[in-house]
This record gives sequence, C-alpha cells and structure tokens, in this order.
Amino acid sequence: MRGTFAVIDTRAMEDNVRAIRGVLRPGVQLLTAVKAGGYGHGAVPAARAALAGGATALGVASLEEALELRRAGIDAQVLVFGRVPAVGLPVAAAAGVDVTLTSDWATEGVPPCSPALRVHIKVDTGMARLGFRDTADALRAAEFVQSRSDMELVGLFSHLACADDLASDHAPRQAERFAAIVNAFEAAGLRPPQVHLANSAGTFRSASWHHDLVRVGISAYGLPPSADFPVPCTLTQAMHVYAVVQRVAWLDEGETVGYGATFRTARRTRVATLPIGYADGYHRVLSNRGQVLLRGRRVPVIGRVCMDQMMVDVTDVPEAAAGDVATVYGMAAPDVWNGGALQARTGADVAQWICDTFRAHQATQPSVLSLTEVARAADTISYELMCALAPRVVRLYV
Ligand SMILES: Cc1ncc(COP(=O)(O)O)c(C=O)c1O
Repeated sequence: MRGTFAVIDTRAMEDNVRAIRGVLRPGVQLLTAVKAGGYGHGAVPAARAALAGGATALGVASLEEALELRRAGIDAQVLVFGRVPAVGLPVAAAAGVDVTLTSDWATEGVPPCSPALRVHIKVDTGMARLGFRDTADALRAAEFVQSRSDMELVGLFSHLACADDLASDHAPRQAERFAAIVNAFEAAGLRPPQVHLANSAGTFRSASWHHDLVRVGISAYGLPPSADFPVPCTLTQAMHVYAVVQRVAWLDEGETVGYGATFRTARRTRVATLPIGYADGYHRVLSNRGQVLLRGRRVPVIGRVCMDQMMVDVTDVPEAAAGDVATVYGMAAPDVWNGGALQARTGADVAQWICDTFRAHQATQPSVLSLTEVARAADTISYELMCALAPRVVRLYV
C-alpha cells in the first residue's frame, strides 16, 4: 500500500441517518443523497449504510449513478436529481429508477416506457438551476405525465439555495413559493404522493419544510451543512483520511521546502513527508495553511502541496518518525499504528487490523480533525473535500 488510505465508518453513517430520522415529523420519509460516489465515501457502501439507518430512498445525479446502485443489487427507491435525456427514459423505467422532469421532455418526444416511468416534477423556486419556473408550465407537465399510460406521477420537488444561512430569508421565501405550488397541484387534483423540498439544512431548520420526504446528503456523512449551523442531533464524521510518514529529515535554518521554495525555515526544522497531495484531493490551496495530526498533535503543512506528497513541520513532535501515521482529517490515528506497525503488516489481514484498531481507538473518544475545519482552511466547504478524495486513495470500510 502506498501509505495513503481512508477509513469510511459506515456504522457512523447508519447512526447519522437514524439520528436525523429522529428529528423528522412523524411519517416523513428520508432520502439519502449518494451522488458523486456517495460524496466520495463510495456510492454502494454509503447507500447500504443509509438504508440500514432507515432511509427509504437514494438520490443520485445521473442515470449512470442510479444503474450502479441497481447493479449492486440495491432495489430501494432511487431518484435521479439531474436531467435524464429522453433516450435514457426507457432505461430508467426498466430499472425502476425515478427521474426528474425538469422542463423539456414534452417537446422532445419520449419513447415508450415499460414498466411505467416514475416521474418527479421539479420546480425552480429560487435556485435558478433546474426546474419549471412557471407554475402553469409545471401543471401542464404533470398533466402530460398523467396523460401517458406509461408514466406515473410520483413526486413534486424543489431545491433550497441557502437553507444553511440562518440570517437569510431566501429559504423561507422559497418554502413559501413551493407551498403555493403544492397548493396549486392539490387544487388541480395533481398532487403526487411525494412532495419534497428540504436538504440537510432545510430539514434541521423547519419541520414545516419536511413535506412527505427530506433529501439529506452532507449530514448523513456526519457533517453540519455549514460550519456553525446548529444541528439538533448527534452526527459523527464518517470519512477519515490517513497518510504514513515516508521520511523525516532535519533542515538547517534558512533552507526552503517544496516547489517554488515558498517556505523558508526560521530555525532548525524537522520535516516529515506524507504521501498525499492535490491529486488525492488534498487541495493545493492548503499549502502553508493546512494542519494534520501526528502523535496526537497538530502540525502545519509547510511549502506547497505537491501532486502526490506534502511536507509537514514536526520539529515540535520529537518522537515523530518515518512509519508514523498522520491524520489528514478525521479521528486521530490510534497510537498502535505508529512506529511502522501499520506498514509491517502485509497481506489481507492489514485491512481487518486497521478496522479493529480503529474501532477500539474510537471508543476512547480521541480528538478529531473535522472536515469542516480543514474546509475552512481551504476556503471551501466540506462537501468539496469529501468529493475530491481521489479513487486512488484506498477506502477501508468499517
Ligand atoms: C436536489 C438535491 N437534493 C438534496 C441534496 C442534498 O443536500 P445536502 O447535502 O446539503 O443535504 C442535494 C445535494 O446537493 C441536491 O442536489
């Protein structure tokens, strides 16, 4: 193993989904967004964990992502949030995948579908991304779906643009607009069984936005929708990323580190090299800004983050040595992984050993370098860091 790996805590995901269900109005269903490879966690394991935690539906961005779940034997309700072109609709129908009618099929001509295609109508209430902007057009689309014997009207939905911003009235205004559209559908006798609006932030912000189903992504993976958002239940980060120290070296005062020589040592400095870089999803903007945990302490990233490696200053961690395990984000690495113990293990049992020791250490409630914090240092959001975790980073599922 290269020495870069992620531990994905599927039990945490399951518990998160269960905890989020606990704050829903009675009878409200929970869809977990597993698009983009389960926000980087792996679509299939994330989907299985969500379903085990009580989700009844899954959300993806494309038909291809939906079919990946079906191929893995997952038969729960799956909704494609994005636009599926007309040629893909019979494929979706055959796979029992729900699709989003975003505005344009009626004019494209939809091939016959068997069994009936399950359709959700999307309305744009203030995101300006996809969906009908006009209620009359949305109603006509619903009538079009009703008129087809090979289509079933399953849902009506919209998406919130800033539900995580408590100071903004944008989300309440979207929710009001959406409620008016739902009323218009009801008045026309076209209200589908699944009316849905809320993402994670919307779910936590107002029970009146729950309707029939909530679509939860980020918080199922254990993160708040934004840094200071008050989450009303306990969430545990599911993604943990580690890198084994490759080399430790002394630099004299005045030497430079990395491409562009952007870091110059102000003292004799011990530098540790980690096998993780921007091609793994550790953004280059974290150069001279990020921190990792080593032997329980925070150490700064020095110099530019390279494609496959980066350097950290371990002068203040004298016991740090090659073969130790740095926590890039997530739970502080168990001490039993240090001193080359992890790399000394070979073969199939290493994954099991990592999982067992991870669980044992977790029970001691060690410190956590949260993705929210790393995202803040990187001027981005936890979503982006999760999704950026490259396929080449080995994922171990516990
Ligand atoms: C249509 C839709 N619904 C729900 C979600 C889940 O949002 P969050 O991860 O903020 O809970 C997303 C993700 O962006 C989405 O695109």
